[in-house]
Amino acid sequence: MSKTSFYITTAISYVNGSPHLGHAYEGILTDAMARFKRLDGYDVRFLTGTDEHGEKVAKTAEENGMSAQEFADKNADEFREMTALLGLSNDDFIRTTEPRHYTAAQAIWTKLQDKGLIALGKYEGWYSVREEGYFTEDELTEGENGEKLTPNGTPVKWVEEESYFFKLSDYTEKLLDYYEAHPDFIQPASRRNEIISFVKQGLKDLSVSRHKDRLHWGVPVPGDENHVMYVWLDALTNYITAIGYPDEDSADFKKFWPADYHVIGKDITRFHCVYWPAFLMAADLPLPKAIFAHGFINVQGQKMSKSIGNVLSPTGMVEMYGLDQIRYLLLREISHGNDGNFSHDSAVERMNADLANGIGNLAQRTLSMIYKNCDGQIPEPPTSSEEDQKFLNGFYKEMPEAVRDKFTRFRIDEALKVIINFVGEADSYVDAMAPWALKKEDPERMKTVLYVLAEAIRCIAIAIQFATPSAAAKLLDQLKIPEDQRLFEHMSADYALKPGTAIDKPEGVFPRLEFSDEEQKAAG
Ligand code: MSP
Repeated sequence: MSKTSFYITTAISYVNGSPHLGHAYEGILTDAMARFKRLDGYDVRFLTGTDEHGEKVAKTAEENGMSAQEFADKNADEFREMTALLGLSNDDFIRTTEPRHYTAAQAIWTKLQDKGLIALGKYEGWYSVREEGYFTEDELTEGENGEKLTPNGTPVKWVEEESYFFKLSDYTEKLLDYYEAHPDFIQPASRRNEIISFVKQGLKDLSVSRHKDRLHWGVPVPGDENHVMYVWLDALTNYITAIGYPDEDSADFKKFWPADYHVIGKDITRFHCVYWPAFLMAADLPLPKAIFAHGFINVQGQKMSKSIGNVLSPTGMVEMYGLDQIRYLLLREISHGNDGNFSHDSAVERMNADLANGIGNLAQRTLSMIYKNCDGQIPEPPTSSEEDQKFLNGFYKEMPEAVRDKFTRFRIDEALKVIINFVGEADSYVDAMAPWALKKEDPERMKTVLYVLAEAIRCIAIAIQFATPSAAAKLLDQLKIPEDQRLFEHMSADYALKPGTAIDKPEGVFPRLEFSDEEQKAAG
C-alpha cells in the first residue's frame, strides 16, 4: 500500500543575523510533527531554509561592509548548521538565492501578470523594513519618541516609488468565503479571528516590486530590469519551488502540493493567511491545508532583543542542557499557539522531573534489575495477570491513540503530557509490584513484572522519538529493537519483546542536570 503523503514547512529565516532560540523553537516544533507523521506511517517531506532578499538583508549587509550575497552566504551557513545541531529531520533546505527558486518566483510572477493581475502603478505609503511589510495609516501607533510603529512595534518609513501592484482587492470576498468553508485553515482559532477581522476591512492592491534605484537585492521582475520582486512574493513561493514548481506535473509537486502545514510565528500570519492564499488562487493553484501560527519565546519574561542582551543562541543551549533535553523542554513548556517563557531554573526543574527522574529513572531501574537478576536477558513472562494485561493495553492502545489525537490538533505539549502520565503509571506499577521484594518471595512473578515493565518502556521509547530522538534510540538499542520495528504500529503485543534476548548493560539516557552557582549565573 502506498503511504499517504504529508508536506510540512517552517518559515524561511531572514539571513540578516544569526539563528536564535525563536528560530530553533520553530524548527523543533515542525520537526516533531514531521517525525511523528513518519512514525505514524506517512511519506513526509519537511522543508526549511533561508529568506535572503529584501531591504532588511541588503541594509544589514551594507552595515557589515559586505556584499549582500557574501553576507547571505555566511548567515545561511549558520542556519543550515543549526538544523544539524538541532537534529532536524528536514529533507531539503532551500535558499531563495538558488537558481531553482529564481525560476519558480519568476514563473509565478509571469502567470499572475499574464492573467492581468499585476500592473504598473505608483506606491505611496508606510513600509516597515524590519517586517518587510506595508501598513495603512490607521494601523500605526505612536512610539515613545513620536515615531510611527506597526502593530508588532517596528518602525515604518514613508515610501514613494513606481511599483507593480497585485490585484489583492479582488480577493477580499474570495478569501472570506475560503476561511468560512475551511475552519481549520488558520490555527489556532485566535489567529483566525484576527485575520478575518483584517480582511473584512477590505483589501487594497499590494505593491509587489521595488525599483532598482532603491533596492537591487531581489529576484528581477521578468521583462523589466528596473524592478525586483517584493521579498514576500519571492519568499512565499519557496514552498512550491522546493517541490518542483513551475513543473506542476512533476512527481513531487503532484505528491506534496497542497502542503499539509505551513508552520510560522504569529508575527507573519498576514503574509501567510492573506497574501499567500491570494497569490495561489491567482496562480490557479490549490491552497495549503493549514497554517499553524505558534507563539513567541521570551527569555526571563522579556522579549529577546539585542539591546537587552538576552538573545539565546541554539548552540549555547544545546551545549548547556543537551540536545534532547532542550528539544523536550521547548516542546513541553510552550503550549499550543501561545507565547512561552524560558528561564534557566524552571527549565532545569522540568528536564530533571520528566526526563532524568521520569523516563530515565524508570528505564535505568528496570533494565538494571533485568540485567542483574535475569542473566542480562529479557525474561520469560511465565504468567501474566489480568492486571498486567490491562496495564499493558494502556501502552498499546490508549497512549498511541491519545498521542495521535493531540498531534491531529497540533497540541504537541499535550502529547508529551500524555506520555509522561504513562511514565507515571509505570512508576506506580513498579511501586505496587515491588519487584525487588519479589526477588526472594516469588522470582517467577518478578520476571513477569520486569517483562511487563520492559514492554512499557519499549512503547514509551517508541512514542517519544519525535521529541528526544537520540535518547529514545539509545533505549530501543539497549532493548535490541530492530530499526524497522520502531513505528507507532509496532506498539502492540504482536511486536512484544522476545524473551531470551540479551540486552546491553543499561546506561542512563537522561543524566540529572546540576549546575554550579557560576554556571547558573551565566545562564541568567
Ligand atoms: N523571512 C520571514 C519568513 C518568510 S516565510 C516565507 C521571517 N523571517 S524571520 O527570520 O524573521 O523569522 C523566521 C521565523 O522565526 C518566523 O516564523 C518567526 O515568527 C519566528 N520567530 C522569530 N522570533 C521568534 C521568537 N522569539 N519566538 C518564536 N518564534 C520566533 O519572518
